[in-house]
Amino acid sequence: MSLYTKMNAFANFTKLSIIMLFINSIIINAMKIGKIDIENPIVLAPMEDVTDTPFRLICRRMGADIVYTEFTSSEALIRGIEKAEAKIRILDEERPVAIQIFGAVEESMAQAARLAEQQNPDFIDINCGCWSKTHAARGECAGLLRDLPLLERIVRATVKATSLPVTVKTRLGWDQDSIVILEAVKRIENAGAQAVTVHCRTRSQGYKGQADWSWLEKIKKETNIPIIGNGDVLTPQDAKQMLETGCAGVMIGRGAVANPWIFKQTKHYLKTGKLLPPASIQDRVDLCVEHLKLSIERRGPFYGPLTFKKYYAGYLKGLPYAARLRGELMQFSDEERIVNRLNEYAKQLLDMQSNDDAPFSRSLA
Ligand SMILES: Cc1cc2nc3c(=O)[nH]c(=O)nc-3n(C[C@H](O)[C@H](O)[C@H](O)COP(=O)(O)O)c2cc1C
Repeated sequence: MSLYTKMNAFANFTKLSIIMLFINSIIINAMKIGKIDIENPIVLAPMEDVTDTPFRLICRRMGADIVYTEFTSSEALIRGIEKAEAKIRILDEERPVAIQIFGAVEESMAQAARLAEQQNPDFIDINCGCWSKTHAARGECAGLLRDLPLLERIVRATVKATSLPVTVKTRLGWDQDSIVILEAVKRIENAGAQAVTVHCRTRSQGYKGQADWSWLEKIKKETNIPIIGNGDVLTPQDAKQMLETGCAGVMIGRGAVANPWIFKQTKHYLKTGKLLPPASIQDRVDLCVEHLKLSIERRGPFYGPLTFKKYYAGYLKGLPYAARLRGELMQFSDEERIVNRLNEYAKQLLDMQSNDDAPFSRSLA
């Protein structure tokens, strides 16, 4: 073999190795729930008082593959409580969207599933993870982790009551001494659910400590239905690491409140291995205003700005003088005043940025 041929062969080998390395670093996990069939789905977690229609729309626009309503009481739906009914109202633009319900009584869950079906969501999710004492003491939500046969019956009754796919969102177990997730997932699958989301903490942990993603790999081996991992995903790199456990998708909660761009950023990272730049100041102000307007459209000029207050912290996180501005915005209840102040702030920051002003560089450093 001539030196030239050898060098050519070496160059081809190197090229092939680089291509193989790139292919190996791309993760493709597919998830199917009913008609939904998505690769590497990155979904928005259900969050009480947070994932209302405006926030779900914002997250869909920012690339979330699926969004969920806040958890809604089966008993409240059956009694026709307006607040519960409002929670499960969805718009076509939100699709794919799931309605999450909870309860500890099979017949009530079946009836609530039929009521939820009338809203025509893409699937129904059962909450088996909320750690609040009130719910757990009634045997619902995370309380079901202490009675797996009841959990199985509830899932079966819900599946039977609706033609929509049913999924479950749960935790690892009640506490460190009773991690029951492997048995729970088998029972949930037997009862006919099409996917399970696992927040990788126990009920007694609440939000303390670190979510233990190592369980995802073990759970996956025990079941044939898709597992969506959840807990402490704050960056695109976190999401990639979670997908590497073999789970079918990633669910993001608090990370999306702090940064609704996380869905786009994660998808880009999974596709290219490169990180997008963080959202600019103008992007943040623009999205904040878009979200505020959606909130006012849905809730009116009084309740819209009022219920929006909890989102300012996320949009302004890490920006100079954010606490002071937030304090100011909290006092305002008028759309025009809020929008003007936000735009004025963005302009001030951009001026500071172009003058290379110290507070700007300090607080973003
Ligand atoms: C304010 C708030 C409200 C929540 N409400 C719900 C809920 O309605 N249903 C549910 O299944 N989980 C709820 N959760 C739990 C989240 O869906 C998620 O499992 C948890 O926050 C862990 O994910 P994260 O680390 O990405 O935030 C809530 C969490 C927060 C912070």
